[in-house]
Amino acid sequence: MKIIAISNNKGGVGKTTSTVNIAAALQILGKKVLVIDMDHQAQSTYHLGVQSNKLKRSIYDVLKGELPYGDIMIDRNGMHLLPASPDLKGLEFLPIPAKEFLLRDALADLDDYDYTLIDCPPSLGVLTLNALTFAQEIYVPLQVQFLPFHGMYNLFEAAEMVKKRLNKSIEITGIIATMYNANKTINREVLEETKKRLPGKLFETLIRENVSLQEAPSWGKTIFEYKPDSSGAIDYMELTKEILVRSA
Ligand SMILES: Nc1ncnc2c1ncn2[C@@H]1O[C@H](COP(=O)(O)OP(=O)(O)O)[C@@H](O)[C@H]1O
Ligand SMILES: [Mg+2]
Repeated sequence: MKIIAISNNKGGVGKTTSTVNIAAALQILGKKVLVIDMDHQAQSTYHLGVQSNKLKRSIYDVLKGELPYGDIMIDRNGMHLLPASPDLKGLEFLPIPAKEFLLRDALADLDDYDYTLIDCPPSLGVLTLNALTFAQEIYVPLQVQFLPFHGMYNLFEAAEMVKKRLNKSIEITGIIATMYNANKTINREVLEETKKRLPGKLFETLIRENVSLQEAPSWGKTIFEYKPDSSGAIDYMELTKEILVRSA
């Protein structure tokens, strides 16, 4: 079983889009997939067609130890989802010791999945720390329209800290270039710079800018359900095949 956290402390870089659509592509390719939404904004829950504000129970109740994860699991045509809800934000303020281990402890007997993908919030707070403590690998979506390295170094530092103190096996193993536009010089510059500074991390497949990827969430559909012929669908399928090779 592979457990991958999709993380970047910057918002709007494509974490949720990547989590949902890589999960969908993995499922199409015959893998058993679980998505865990660790963002209190519950965007991947929403993207997968679940109204998080109507949920009575979410991953929050599991983290607090009040429910087994099986009680909140949603089966979405074979893809499984542990949904988030807005109250997840409150985890930060609960007087629980060693809070970074809540996810790992709650899911200790999880073994049924080929791939577990965790969508992280845009911060390095306790929710992300829970994801990085449980995961084996981190994929970082990188919006190639800006020079975003400063933010990324914070994530690299956080990953080092987690490795030292919480989870020896965690590694940043992949960088996903998102919202790529070949006509913009800055995009190519960011790609070159990433390859130079972080050799071997960048996936070869570039996720192009694609409006269908923006539209799909409001329909509660993955890109493969919404517009299977779009460049977004083609790119995420290509990327996922690369992931299968890399993580084999
Ligand atoms: N390749 C893409 N092309 C165009 N829009 C994209 C692409 N990837 C993501 N988006 C849009 O950009 C916004 C931020 O993406 P999202 O995945 O929610 O980022 P994050 O989870 O990192 O905050 C969303 O509106 C999303 O639909
Ligand atoms: Mg998100």
